[in-house]
Amino acid sequence: MCGAAFCSRPAWATPDVTPVVDALTLTILTDSGTFGPFLPDLDLPGLKVLRSGNGMPSGATRMSPQSLMGEFGLSVLAESRIGGSSKRVLVDFGYTATVLANNMALLGVDPATIDASVLSHGHLDHYGGFTALFGANAKPARQLPLYVGGEETFCERVAMIGDPPPIMGTLDRLALRQAGYDVRIAPASEIIAGQAFTTGIIPLESSERTAIPTRMHPGVGCDRAQLRADKRDQTEVTDDGEHEIATCYLVKGLGLVVIASCSHRGVLNSVRRAQAISGISKVHMVIGGFHLVRPRTADEAHQTVAAFAAMNPEYIVPMHCTGEVFIEEALRQMPSKIVRPYVGTRFEMS
Ligand SMILES: [Fe+2]
Repeated sequence: MCGAAFCSRPAWATPDVTPVVDALTLTILTDSGTFGPFLPDLDLPGLKVLRSGNGMPSGATRMSPQSLMGEFGLSVLAESRIGGSSKRVLVDFGYTATVLANNMALLGVDPATIDASVLSHGHLDHYGGFTALFGANAKPARQLPLYVGGEETFCERVAMIGDPPPIMGTLDRLALRQAGYDVRIAPASEIIAGQAFTTGIIPLESSERTAIPTRMHPGVGCDRAQLRADKRDQTEVTDDGEHEIATCYLVKGLGLVVIASCSHRGVLNSVRRAQAISGISKVHMVIGGFHLVRPRTADEAHQTVAAFAAMNPEYIVPMHCTGEVFIEEALRQMPSKIVRPYVGTRFEMS
């Protein structure tokens, strides 16, 4: 239950103390769209929006033949600061390593400076680009912490997007290790790099239903014994997104920032979980894919807009799988809250 400023923290809420960052910058590394150099930067209350155009460094005297690239995937770099300590957390890896590596290079992101990574869920459009950071074979000394929400992350999936539904594949643990990741399964909320926190498993507490366009094969790529008892002995189950997590920050003086990634458990449920864990009701920004496309309906997109209007976050940044129905209605009802992201856009909050 949330009041104007605080939410009551249930006994299960961990960690005991939510880190509060002095500043947070989010950079879109992978999303659907790019935009040339014609959008203005914005200086809004509690938020600066800096555009990157085609990705050319400022001050360059010659246009680059290379450009930022878009694709149907999501990757966000979060840079935060507490006092003199700065940390970089990478949330998701987009669909392809080609796009992520291209965009990181043009945006000047050095993978060696990333302190931790979070994979929101086991879908190809979020993990596919993981080799972009260190290649398929990283130096043995390099092991970047990678947090996932559950064993289900590794199960093979089929995508319900064709006839027959194509195999999506699996996220290969050995390939991850060889590419320099140290996988940590965290179904409960976890502090990331001392400055961010994850939601852990997101309960279904709002009117939102799970909406996941995949089915899962227990035992293929994942360890049956580590799955929930009602799933482990089946050959194929409906995906309920039980392992999906969101990554969150609490920014001093501003409130919560929730990176929802794909929202298969519902974007409102994700935000409510962040509120319950932190004990803070004020939401500064909700950013990510809200998946208000099929199997969700236009009615559900409208309901989510209405719920956001009641929740009253300062800013909503719809990415990736959010869908045009939500964006059009949200722009109509609360135009000052909606900020359109493009690859390379930086959101500075302090
Ligand atoms: Fe997605």
